[in-house]
Amino acid sequence: MRKNIVAGNWKMNNDLAQTETLISELKSQAKTSDAEVMIAPTFTNLWHAFQSLRQEDIEVVAQNMHFAENGAYTGEVSASMLKSIGIKTVILGHSERRAYFNETDELLAKKVDAALANDMRVIFCFGEELADRKAGNEEAVVESQIKNALFHLGVDAFKNIVLAYEPVWAIGTGETASPEQAQDMHAFIRKTLNNKYGNQVSDDMTILYGGSVKPVNAKEIFGKPDVDGGLIGGASLKAEDFFAIVNAF
Ligand code: PGA
Repeated sequence: MRKNIVAGNWKMNNDLAQTETLISELKSQAKTSDAEVMIAPTFTNLWHAFQSLRQEDIEVVAQNMHFAENGAYTGEVSASMLKSIGIKTVILGHSERRAYFNETDELLAKKVDAALANDMRVIFCFGEELADRKAGNEEAVVESQIKNALFHLGVDAFKNIVLAYEPVWAIGTGETASPEQAQDMHAFIRKTLNNKYGNQVSDDMTILYGGSVKPVNAKEIFGKPDVDGGLIGGASLKAEDFFAIVNAF
């Protein structure tokens, strides 16, 4: 089912004490929209965040995971480890993972498979770089990222997938895609899904926009018909700003 979702990607921010503070501030905010709310703290704080938010309407999700179940992968964390502490959703394919940790579409396909095999929900991120957009290649890039990592899946798998379109040039730069640019790409993504899987998958797919979403622009972006919410970086680190975005629906 298509839903409204606002997910905060904390990235590599907040130690334990800062996590405690931000969580207690989040708890004091009032939600006035129907959006599902998620936060993605770093691995070391997932357990604490999960415990602290058990009774709240905020899901704690992971920023990444490895594709293997276990074994000699120093420094990595598996789906079953995340599940064992209550985490049911994982962000995969963030552009920072692709750019700084060499995550390719092929690797991401394996991670998606591992997450789904563990009954986890995936927030799958993709998006073009500035050079792609300048060259008019943004749709081709996005289409290939989606096809390469997801189009081996069957129809049913898409029930556990949320897509997040994040143009790389808009992440952490203060530059946002215009609501029209976001809408155009989201409509293209839905069409791409429709061509391969038909109406059910494309109509039901939740597609988030990410890249410098703030309280001041959230309402206009979320107002577009094919935008179902946001993946929020910088603005998710302040409880008031984050909830202003959650309540922008
Ligand atoms: P930003 O990050 O909101 O700080 O641009 C978005 C993201 O990286 O998901």
